[in-house]
Amino acid sequence: MITKGRSPQPAPIPPFATSDGNLLVGGRSVTDIVATLQGQPCYLYDRQLMTTQVASLRNGLPSEIKLHYAVKANPMREVVSHLCDITDGLDVASAGELQLAIATGTRPENISFAGPGKSSQDLHSAVEAGVIICLESAGEMERLAQIARQKSIRPKVAVRVNPAFELKISGLKMGGGALPFGVDEEQVPGLLQQMAELPLDFYGFHIFAGGQSLREDALTEVQIKSYQLAFKLAEHAPGPVRWLNTGGGLGVPYFAGESPLQLSKFTATMHTLANESRVRLPQAELVLELGRYLVAPAGVYLCQIVDRKVSRGKTFLVTNGGMHHHLAASGNLGQVIRKNYPVAIANRMNEPDREQVSIVGPLCTPLDILADNVSLPRAGIGDLVAVFQSGAYGYTASPHQFLSHPPPTEMCL
Ligand SMILES: Cc1ncc(COP(=O)(O)O)c(C=O)c1O
Repeated sequence: MITKGRSPQPAPIPPFATSDGNLLVGGRSVTDIVATLQGQPCYLYDRQLMTTQVASLRNGLPSEIKLHYAVKANPMREVVSHLCDITDGLDVASAGELQLAIATGTRPENISFAGPGKSSQDLHSAVEAGVIICLESAGEMERLAQIARQKSIRPKVAVRVNPAFELKISGLKMGGGALPFGVDEEQVPGLLQQMAELPLDFYGFHIFAGGQSLREDALTEVQIKSYQLAFKLAEHAPGPVRWLNTGGGLGVPYFAGESPLQLSKFTATMHTLANESRVRLPQAELVLELGRYLVAPAGVYLCQIVDRKVSRGKTFLVTNGGMHHHLAASGNLGQVIRKNYPVAIANRMNEPDREQVSIVGPLCTPLDILADNVSLPRAGIGDLVAVFQSGAYGYTASPHQFLSHPPPTEMCL
C-alpha cells in the first residue's frame, strides 16, 4: 500500500463481490461484460445491492414511514422499475420522469411531482395522471387552479415548503434562505388560506431541506424540525394532512475520509416522530424521499485504459471514458475543490497497490480527470478502471456529446 503524507483513506468500495481478481456486478464478471461491448465504457447497476440498501434502511424505520425513490438520481428504466418494486412510491421532477413513473404501474397517489418551473403542459399531464403535485409558488397554484377548472378535476396538491432551517454540513442545501424551491414557510399560511377557495384537493406538505449529508445528527435534527413545522402549518390547512414528505438527504461516501452513514439514532427518532404524528396528523401518510442513498452504491462506471504515459515524473493512465460520461467523478458537477471518487482496477481487485497514478479521459481539457494521484495496482493498456458510487447522478448528469465520443452503455444486472 502506497500512502502519501497523512492523507485520509479513500472512501470505501461498496460491497461488490469479486472472483479471481475480477469485479462482479449482478454476479457477472465486468471483464466479460466489457469484452462483449468491445471495450467501450459502461455503467453497470447491481439490483441486489439496491435491494440490500433498501432492506437495511427499512429494517430500522417504523413501518408507517414509506420510502419513495427520487427518479432524478437515476432514471434508467430498469433501475426505476426495480426500485419501484422494492419501495413504496416515486418522486418525479419533469414530465419525462412522470411518464416513466406511470409506465411502471405505480399508483398515481404514490407518485409526487416536485420541481420549480413546471410548465402548463407539465401541470396538465400531472392532473390527468392524478399524481400529487407539489406546489412551488403562488403563481403555480393559480395556473393549476385554472387547469383544474378547465378539466373539472380537483388535483391532489401538496405545498412544498422552503423551511427557515437548512440541512447543516451537507452537499446540497435546499432550505434556510432565499431559494427558488417551494414556498417560504412564513408565506405558507397565507397560501393555504387562498387555496381553500380554489378547486384543489389539499393533500399535505413536502419539506426537502437538503441532500448528500453524512451527518446523522444533522439529518435527525432536520427531521425533527420538519415534523414540528408540519404540525404548525397543519393548523392553517384547508383540510386534514394526508401526506407528509420530509425529504431525507441521506448521503453516500464519495471522498477520502468519508464513511457510510450509521442511522440508529436517525431511525430511533423516526419512530418517535411517527408516534407523535399518529396523534397530531392521524390521517397522514409519512414519506421519506431518497435518491442517491438507494442507488449510488449499486452503480459502477467502467472504462478501459488506452494509454499509459509519464510526464515529468507523473504517471497517467489514459482511458476511453471520462468527464463526458461521468461529470461528477471528474469533479465538475458542483465540487469546489476536486476530490477523487473511490476507484479500482476492476480486473486486478486481488492485487496490492504498487504505484501512484492519475487517471484521465480522452478529452483535450485538463478538466478530464477521473482520479488524481491515487494508489493502485500496476495497470496498463486493456485494464479496466472502475469508478464506484456511480449509480446516481452519473449517466444522465454528464455531457455525453462533448467531443463526440460514443456514449456509455447502461446495464442493470
Ligand atoms: C425535491 C428533491 N427530492 C429528492 C432529491 C434527491 O436527493 P438525493 O439524491 O440526494 O437523495 C432532490 C435532489 O436534489 C430534490 O431536490
